Amino acid sequence: MSKIIDGKLIAQNLKDRLKKEIIELNKKHNQVPGLAVIQVGNVAASSVYVKAKTKSALEVGIEVIDHHLDENISEKELIEIIKKLNNQDNVNGILVQLPLPNHINEQFILDTINPNKDADGFHPLNVGNLSISATNDENLLIPCTPYGCLHMLKSLDIDLKGKNAVVIGRSNIVGKPMAQLLLKESCTVTIAHSKTRDLPNICNKADILIAAVGKAEIVRGDWIKEGAIVIDVGINRIQLKVNGETKNKLVGDVNFDEGKLKASAITPVPGGVGPMTIACLLRNTTIAFKNNFK
Ligand code: GUN
Repeated sequence: MSKIIDGKLIAQNLKDRLKKEIIELNKKHNQVPGLAVIQVGNVAASSVYVKAKTKSALEVGIEVIDHHLDENISEKELIEIIKKLNNQDNVNGILVQLPLPNHINEQFILDTINPNKDADGFHPLNVGNLSISATNDENLLIPCTPYGCLHMLKSLDIDLKGKNAVVIGRSNIVGKPMAQLLLKESCTVTIAHSKTRDLPNICNKADILIAAVGKAEIVRGDWIKEGAIVIDVGINRIQLKVNGETKNKLVGDVNFDEGKLKASAITPVPGGVGPMTIACLLRNTTIAFKNNFK
């Protein structure tokens, strides 16, 4: 039977540490870190994430500067708001919740954020720094979801060196930065994606399997090597019929009931990666604040 990795608990430990650190930082600088949270429009999933991020930030003592903007805002107007926040002293981190409406070029927006205030680590300079640096350095602004995954792997107290890691998904938010992080831990990394041939067979060779595909329960038990560690990044809403009634359920990219019979450790959905993403956002904001005083 596999160990269920408790993302909620690990995230809470990280938040407790940050809360204490922010009290000390406030004593020293008479200021707390500030996070600007920008949401454009009302995509339901984004509203859930933004609410959870805001709540957690306030819990650890981070000031939240909230910008909930109309979905018809122009790209130019959004850029002006970000430029203002770039120069605002009480803002140390800027988060633009993705996806943005189709009329806005996401990369233009991410490029506009001051890289020193890039709470998501999505600015090209931070993407480059992540790629170039030899270690997963304490001062880097690292994309939150993959960094949260790495944190969970490290909580298992296993030697990552030389392990076969397979990342399914090549997004800028998860897959690519996840691969960079694992490479720096000296894993042998394979990035699989929608055009990969014989995906089950590739997954079968993974000591560490990271599923970030966005397809409900695509990873089945027989894709998983006996004893592998499985990190499930997927958050998919599916509908189930229970006693003739339709119910909504959140599931990952991995079939959890099958996966837990094969893996030595596995993350649940919900309660796995999700809380870690938020904790790492708070970590980035605190790092950006501290970098300010260097
Ligand atoms: N949308 C999905 N994941 C993320 C994330 O980590 N950050 C932002 N800003 N948007 C997202």
